[in-house]
Amino acid sequence: MKAKARQDELIPRMGMDEMDELVDGETVSEKKVEAGKAVTLEDLPGVGPATIEKLRTVGFGDIMAVAVATPGELIDATGMNEAAAKKLIAAARSGLVMGFESGEDLLKKRQNIQRISTGSKQFDTLLGGGFESGGITECFGEFGSSKTQIAHQLAVNVTKPKELGGHDGCVVYIDTETTFRPERIIEMAKGAGADPQLILSRIKVARAFNSDHQMLLAEKVEDLLKKENLPVKLVIVDSLTAHFRAEFIGRGSLAERQQKLNKHMHVLSKLADIHNLCVYVTNQVMVKPDMFFGDPTTAIGGHIVAHNSQTRVYLRKGKKGSRVAKLIDSPYLADGECMFFVTQDGLKDL
Ligand code: GTP
Ligand code: MG
Repeated sequence: MKAKARQDELIPRMGMDEMDELVDGETVSEKKVEAGKAVTLEDLPGVGPATIEKLRTVGFGDIMAVAVATPGELIDATGMNEAAAKKLIAAARSGLVMGFESGEDLLKKRQNIQRISTGSKQFDTLLGGGFESGGITECFGEFGSSKTQIAHQLAVNVTKPKELGGHDGCVVYIDTETTFRPERIIEMAKGAGADPQLILSRIKVARAFNSDHQMLLAEKVEDLLKKENLPVKLVIVDSLTAHFRAEFIGRGSLAERQQKLNKHMHVLSKLADIHNLCVYVTNQVMVKPDMFFGDPTTAIGGHIVAHNSQTRVYLRKGKKGSRVAKLIDSPYLADGECMFFVTQDGLKDL
């Protein structure tokens, strides 16, 4: 009752002259959200379903998106007038919970980080103990450099029981190239001394048919965690960039591709952060035609992918069938290199 009264105080009824028309006669009133209390678009005062629908269809899916939009963008999206757009942005900003965390909070968060072993001691050491939860780790490299084998190995190592050094978790495996092989999981599970049936039951595979489908699947992981209560500890996207690369061809579509990739990676990054889970994405390389010295290969996706990946590893084929992993970018680990092998039982040192 008290809370309701307080809300009324914060959202005073306004006369028509203080309101501005949104869409289809809907109105928005001024400064009415209690600071930091708005969670969804529906929490914004005076915004009706028609406006929300329009905002959502063009990608303004949450308060943050509205808070950082320009009035012009909202006008284009909904057809509302400028004053209404400005007021909506102001309301979203005042309602937004700003993400300031103290250094102490962050340190506590870091202490909760879990590390998934790769099966190779050297590779684990390179990564400070394994693939980290709380962020995105990207492996990029040419065909056959073992990006997919690493995905299978991580899936086994996170699902296997704690007694065997695993995490008793579940995996969401977003497969864009139809390269997931349950037979390979069985081999690796046996190699790890785990029950293959148990391991397979904990891996949820979804085949993504195109980039939009891939983006949607990433958004649905939240449902698995919340509605089905699955202990998802690893999300794999193999490959992150293949669909985007195939669908957006030519210079003209580059901006749109990068925008979509950015949005996709934001969803993954948020998942990793909020649920303290590990996200592993794979990425191909292309040859830089203007490079005459050094390694001419460069990862797809440019700055967008590089910037959104917390840890980046470059993979290449080494001598005598080995694979070489090179740590390219990590927020706190020294750059370095190591060697590992892909065997019948999975990833190993020699
Ligand atoms: P692309 O997806 O084509 O870009 O390559 P990738 O980096 O995903 O390579 P992938 O992980 O598929 O394969 C890497 C290497 O692992 C292969 O060259 C093989 O040497 C090895 N490998 C793949 N499958 C198996 C398998 O079933 N058993 C064993 N022992 N080795 C395998
Ligand atoms: Mg692959």
